[in-house]
Parts: sequence; C-alpha cells; structure tokens
Amino acid sequence: MTEKKDLVNITDLSRKEIYAIFEKAKFYKFQRKKGILVDDVLRGHSIGLLFRKPSSRTRISFEVAIIELGGSPIFLETSQLQISRGETIEDTARVLNLYLKGLVIRTYQQSEVESFARIVDFPVINGLTDSFHPCQILADFFTIWEHKKNLEEVVVTYIGDPNNVCNTLILAADILGVRINVSCPSEYSVSKQIVNIMENPHLLKVSDDPYSFVPESDVIYTDTWVSMGDETEKEKRLEVFKKFQVNEKLVKNAPANFLFMHCLPAHRGQEVTDAVIDGNNSVVWQQAENRLHVQKSILHFLYSEAEDEL
Ligand code: CP
Ligand code: NVA
Repeated sequence: MTEKKDLVNITDLSRKEIYAIFEKAKFYKFQRKKGILVDDVLRGHSIGLLFRKPSSRTRISFEVAIIELGGSPIFLETSQLQISRGETIEDTARVLNLYLKGLVIRTYQQSEVESFARIVDFPVINGLTDSFHPCQILADFFTIWEHKKNLEEVVVTYIGDPNNVCNTLILAADILGVRINVSCPSEYSVSKQIVNIMENPHLLKVSDDPYSFVPESDVIYTDTWVSMGDETEKEKRLEVFKKFQVNEKLVKNAPANFLFMHCLPAHRGQEVTDAVIDGNNSVVWQQAENRLHVQKSILHFLYSEAEDEL
C-alpha cells in the first residue's frame, strides 16, 4: 500500500503533480458544464471540514466537490467541538481518525494542520492557515494557465500585504518556474523564511514601490491588508498599505491584456477599487469558480492512488 498523501503546503506537490491536477480540473470543468459528473472517487467516504475561521468559497466549494465526487462532507464548527473546551488537537485527531476518511482544516497555526496530518491515517488538506493557502493558489495558477498557456513566460506581480496568499503564490511560482514580483511596504516585507525555502530565489523580486513592476506584469494580484487574525493591527495596516491600493492609476501602465486577480473576499475601496475588480481585466469570478474544479482535482489526486490499489 502507498503512503497516504496530504496537502498541508504547496511544497507537498511537484511541478508534474500540479500540472496533473490542472489537467484533471480542466476535464472536470468541461464535463460539469455539460452537466456530467464523471467521478465517484469519494464514494462511502465522510470528509470533515474543521474551520476555526469564517469561509464562503473554501467551505462551499469543498462541500460541493465532496458531494459531486460521491462523498459526504461534515462541517465541524469548532465552537461546538470539545476542542473549544480544551481537548487537545492530538486527542481530537485520534478520535476523528476513527470516523472520517479525510479532513479539510482552516485554522491559525500551520503546525495544527501538520499535527493532524501526522496523527491521522487519511488525507489532510490545508484550507488556509496564517501562513499558507495552497488550495487557493492552485486554483489561481490554474486560472492563469487557462489564459496564458506557458506559465514559464508569465510574470506575476503581487501588490500589498505579503500574507498567507502571497507566501503560497511565491512558493508555487518557485515550483512552476514563474517569475514573481512583490510590491509591499518595507515594514511588512516578504518573510525571509519563505525566501529560504525557494529553490529558485532569482525568480523573486521585491520592491517597496507599488508602480515598479506594473509594466512587466501579466498578472496583478492583491489581497486584503487585514487577514483573519490580524484585526488588532487593523488601523495601522490600513494606513501603511494605503499607497499599495490597486486602482486605475496604478494599472494604467500594465500590458493591455494583464489579468487582475484577487482570492476574495475583497475590501472594495481598500486594496482594490471597484473600477479594477469590476473591470475588463479582472478574472476574480473565474478564480472563484475554479476553486470548485481544482478542489475536485485535488481530492482525486489525494484519493485515486489509494483507491486504485484496493
Ligand atoms: N478565498 C477564500 O479562501 O475565500 P473564503 O475565505 O470565502 O473561503
Ligand atoms: N489573506 C486572507 C485570505 C482570505 C481568503 C486571510 O487570511 O484572511
């Protein structure tokens, strides 16, 4: 029997595996548009979704993906679990291991996802932590791939807070051979730890000038300045990031066919203006739709080999 697979971080995947996920997602998307559900790889499997932070896209797209693959999602509201009364992660994981066949976790500490993955016998999927958001970034690079076939020729520029989304974008770019720029205030710069993990650090350029990378950018990506968990610094952050707003003036010098991307939810009037997010270059709804197709493909990737061996 092969070892169980997890998606705890994007670095769990090779370039080849990411492209296999893209190809399968493309197939799922095409078939679903014709009303065809092609796979029941999760038949008989109950998959838990343990979320310590709010979610619309990740939760719902995973629940639908699990149902469409023949499984049953069980939403685990953490305030209703004994974990909220102090039962340890380890004990909770041992118990969930007796019932479930998979777990999607959204939480604060990356180490919590890693602990679950170590203890349970089934796949664990990171549905966002303070440090990383791998499922989001797979859907994002899938979206870019739909528009610009050769990713190695693409330049992605992230403007704003170098947060969990940005960290994962950098590491995915590193795996895929994509040039990645980050424009951010020097006070909130890219984490050295992330740069140290990169195998190809020459792919990354960082500047505190929001305008510097715009003319060479095939993709301009932004995200909130106040991530879930950062609320205590809200006022300071809104001030420091002000000049990194993605607005019409900023994107004026971008190539005509650049893609504007945002993982959502957007804070309109803060990190992005209505004119940009609702403009012709924006692919944010396509990104959101692709979460479903890519999530199905991630699940297929994590479960299919084990199934094939039965
Ligand atoms: N982009 C994303 O993860 O959205 P949710 O917080 O709604 O899941
Ligand atoms: N960086 C954001 C992403 C939300 C999907 C957060 O962590 O709140």
